[in-house]
Amino acid sequence: MRRENPISPSPPRKPTPKLQAPVWSIYAALAALASVSLIAAENPPQLPEGEAIYQRACATCHGPDGRGASRELVGFDNPLPDFTDCRFAQREADQDWIAVVHDGGPARGFSEIMPAFGETLKREEIEHVVRYLRGFCREPDWPRGELNLPRPLVTEKAFPEDEVVLTTVFPREGTASVIQRVTYERRIGARNQLELTLPYTFRESGSGGWFGGIGDIAAGWKRVLFANLSHGAIASLTGEFVIPTGSRSRGLGKGVTVFETFGTYGQLLPKDSFLQLQAGVELPMDSSKAARAAFWRVATGKMLVEREGRGRLWAPMVEFLAERELVRGEPVVWDVLPELHVTLSRRQHVRANFGVRIPATHREGRSVQLVFYLLWDWYDGGLREGW
Ligand code: HEC
Repeated sequence: MRRENPISPSPPRKPTPKLQAPVWSIYAALAALASVSLIAAENPPQLPEGEAIYQRACATCHGPDGRGASRELVGFDNPLPDFTDCRFAQREADQDWIAVVHDGGPARGFSEIMPAFGETLKREEIEHVVRYLRGFCREPDWPRGELNLPRPLVTEKAFPEDEVVLTTVFPREGTASVIQRVTYERRIGARNQLELTLPYTFRESGSGGWFGGIGDIAAGWKRVLFANLSHGAIASLTGEFVIPTGSRSRGLGKGVTVFETFGTYGQLLPKDSFLQLQAGVELPMDSSKAARAAFWRVATGKMLVEREGRGRLWAPMVEFLAERELVRGEPVVWDVLPELHVTLSRRQHVRANFGVRIPATHREGRSVQLVFYLLWDWYDGGLREGW
């Protein structure tokens, strides 16, 4: 979601009385709704259907060019989206725009100034007008939001994100400990993403007290190689350095810089199900301190959206996680991780995921772990917005 409309020539805003917006918006909404019902009554429109609906019902606020009409024209102060801004528009999935047009702004935690058209436009007409909105962005390089699959707990995604994720891991047995990891992701342009991860561990020490300390910090770069909505597929490549900031003697770090590289792939499947794959290698700079390892991970699940695609998203999934040290005779170690991903905010920019990571092979000394994350897509709005 953009926060500013860079095109609008308006000077810095004067504070407007809060009441004004809803009043104006009711007029504008009524005018828009009235003009929609006129479409049917008049001669068949000369324009293609989506454009005709847009020009009559949406352009008063969103502007004939999709950049948002000026504040003076619309009479309210709320910023309007700029549909020509691909950075914002391409990351949105059709389903979310359909929800907003059908049920109005509040369906996705936006202002009620954005009217609901569910009563005046048929589902098909809403789809047409949303398809027309798509035409405003002219840079096809930006991967489309439909390819942004629900984030698994361990398997990395192919889609580039603007997110902060706080992951917490509780081992069920062994020394009492809590491992936390903050991951910050930032998109750079259409297809790149920077990623920083800071782990932090609290652990019970032998003498009964607790101690805490940071682990190995990771910095990575992701590049989307391929993204195609008609194939429902996206693939990326990531390179990452894990720096030995954690104390090795206290078991918080590997004590050696590790270069990690992996590929990620996301595939939409029929019936709103999906598959996500990640495979790569960990290459310590000094292999006498840590072994080289390979890993591969699969996450598969299904997206269930309440109210015919317009409400909360639930995504049950299961991950299969494999790792093998690249040392002769070392086995492949498997874990299974069933989990439930859910959107918390209406805007869907705050989400949670909860799962149980179960060692499937070589269980000796490996505990079941409860894994949980809270995710905030900061590009889509502040933590307290959009509920
Ligand atoms: C009365 C003015 C008004 C009219 C008419 C209007 N909109 Fe909106 N619309 C808004 C406002 C204001 C927002 C932004 C709300 C916010 O950011 O809180 C918005 C937001 C949206 C969004 C969400 C964009 C995002 O940030 O993800 C979509 C999609 C949208 N409008 C489509 C339409 C379509 C399609 C029509 C015509 C069928 C239409 N709007 C008619 C005012 C209007």
